[in-house]
Amino acid sequence: FVPKLYLGKEVLITAGPTVERIDPVRYLSNDSSGKMGVALAEVARDMGARVTLVHGPLQVPVPDGVTAIPVMSSEEMLHEVTSRFDSLDLVVKSAAVADYRPKTVHAEKHKKVHGPLTIELEETTDILKTLGERKTHQILVGFAAETERLEEHAAAKLKKKNVDFLVANDVSGSDIGFGADDNEAVLFHADGTTLNLPKQSKKQLAFELLTHFKEAVR
Ligand code: PMT
Repeated sequence: FVPKLYLGKEVLITAGPTVERIDPVRYLSNDSSGKMGVALAEVARDMGARVTLVHGPLQVPVPDGVTAIPVMSSEEMLHEVTSRFDSLDLVVKSAAVADYRPKTVHAEKHKKVHGPLTIELEETTDILKTLGERKTHQILVGFAAETERLEEHAAAKLKKKNVDFLVANDVSGSDIGFGADDNEAVLFHADGTTLNLPKQSKKQLAFELLTHFKEAVR
């Protein structure tokens, strides 16, 4: 039994990695499978929400009844999320968005050079921070993927990005975090209070998280 907590609500979830091109055959990306975001989309749908999933390349299928918007780069994700933002009730940013992209995207395959090759990177736009600056009635949730000092780094992101909740997860192992079927998290509320959510399936964790977020959604 899934309570219909989100009937009539518009929910947008981001999932998966972004892909930042170097040239036509090479790119920068990361190990996100999209499982966490897809679990959130599926459970939000079951809770009665209208769900949009803006996603990079996924290793799992998009659930039925969810509107999928596939993207590749962080720039495309920024556009698809911000253009929908005004009409949303809840945004959960579980995608693993690149912080940097190649400054120049080569039109032709990069030729091998003798010796080391330097690729200059530039910062991408922080989508979550942009939404945090723009938000009015929307409840905004960020994730924090950390490999050390989880709580300290997550607390800094909570402040910097003006989110209502931050889900901090440890991505240093293989049994939780990137690619795994399970996850474990510390949920930070905007006021800094925290809740430990022990290791469980990503679907069960999605259920717990969405139940907490609903307390803030009007
Ligand atoms: O996809 P899975 O294999 O299931 O793995 C799930 C996960 C580990 C990817 C997921 O649980 C997770 O932690 N997602 C966030 C990954 C991430 O980018 O974390 P971060 O600490 O680098 O970024 C903090 C927040 O800012 C995130 O909500 C991110 O979406 C957002 N961000 C980051 C950079 C950027 N340019 N724009 C953003 O919006």
